[in-house]
Amino acid sequence: MRILAIESSCDESAAAVLDQQAGLLAHELFSQVDLHRIYGGVVPELASRDHVQRLLPLVERALEVAATSPAQLQGVAYTAGPGLIGALLTGAALARSLAYAWGVPAIGVHHLEGHLLAPLLEPDPPAFPHVALLVSGGHTMLVEATGIGAYHLLGETRDDAAGEAFDKSAKLLGLPYPGGPQLARLATAGRPGRYSFPRPMLDRSGGLEFSFSGLKTAVLHAVRAVADLTPHAAADIALELQSAIVETLVVKAMRALEQTGHQTLVVAGGVGANQALRAALDAAARQCGVRVYYPRLEFCTDNAAMIAVAGLARLAAGEHDDLAIRARAQWPLASLRCPTPH
Ligand code: KG4
Ligand code: ZN
Repeated sequence: MRILAIESSCDESAAAVLDQQAGLLAHELFSQVDLHRIYGGVVPELASRDHVQRLLPLVERALEVAATSPAQLQGVAYTAGPGLIGALLTGAALARSLAYAWGVPAIGVHHLEGHLLAPLLEPDPPAFPHVALLVSGGHTMLVEATGIGAYHLLGETRDDAAGEAFDKSAKLLGLPYPGGPQLARLATAGRPGRYSFPRPMLDRSGGLEFSFSGLKTAVLHAVRAVADLTPHAAADIALELQSAIVETLVVKAMRALEQTGHQTLVVAGGVGANQALRAALDAAARQCGVRVYYPRLEFCTDNAAMIAVAGLARLAAGEHDDLAIRARAQWPLASLRCPTPH
């Protein structure tokens, strides 16, 4: 089976072609970062309009790179949610229409299931069951995954997501959007111990829940306390902010492994690209005799290859949608079920 996949849930337009035997044949992406930068964040209406312009050329390019004609496709997968509703609708309408025109089934994929399954694209993929740490701009959660579509939520953030904490703190430090990667780069020049930020809900009573909204307030106070925010001071703050987020994520991830008894940790989502997080998780995992799996860096952030993995798993099992164009801004991950033939 060979399918086309389309992603348009936020500010990345992407298309990919995945083959059950040959693997990933093409993945094309256009990031709208430059479009949104002057506004300091994603402007939903601009995102939708840009997806409309970008998606079809990306699909054409992906098919060309994959040396695939529409007649060779057995299905079309697209991100049906959660995400920005207008942005989702652009990809959903295109994907559903192409599938109809080509006479193949379509399937609306859960964006977070895509993130969770992204490590399956690697040569040595993780097995089930495992614990997944999903850390993106919109979500921070620990999930027990016993199979494709079988996700049990162990804990999540009560307020800001980890990526949001990176992005909002970066803004306070005067860094351009998107702040997470910029803050991580700045942190490499930071001197440890000059600032101290809270580790929210880290003790056992905090269980597997997260809370990151207090961190941006702590950063705001630190920024206000220095008369002149020199590059040195900004780097010191960035380093300690990153350490606070990383330590919290590592402790909770190890706690989730201990509680479930699983030996495998999967890391997914944009913050999974953070090198300090990867180093700290690797070190903790070595001590606990646990294995950690990551997607390659380009598949941590939004992409269509991960949507193709989730879509192919479901289409190959015989699951598909009716002719409706599906788009849901909110869609709880735990409501998903294992692929079932329709
Ligand atoms: O998964 P993703 O592309 O989009 C969502 O579904 O949210 O994640 C984007 C988030 C942003 O908050 C971004 O700042 C963060 O991931 N991010 C990083 C790094 N790379 C991306 N945060 C910290 N360090 C990084 N290297
Ligand atoms: Zn995402």
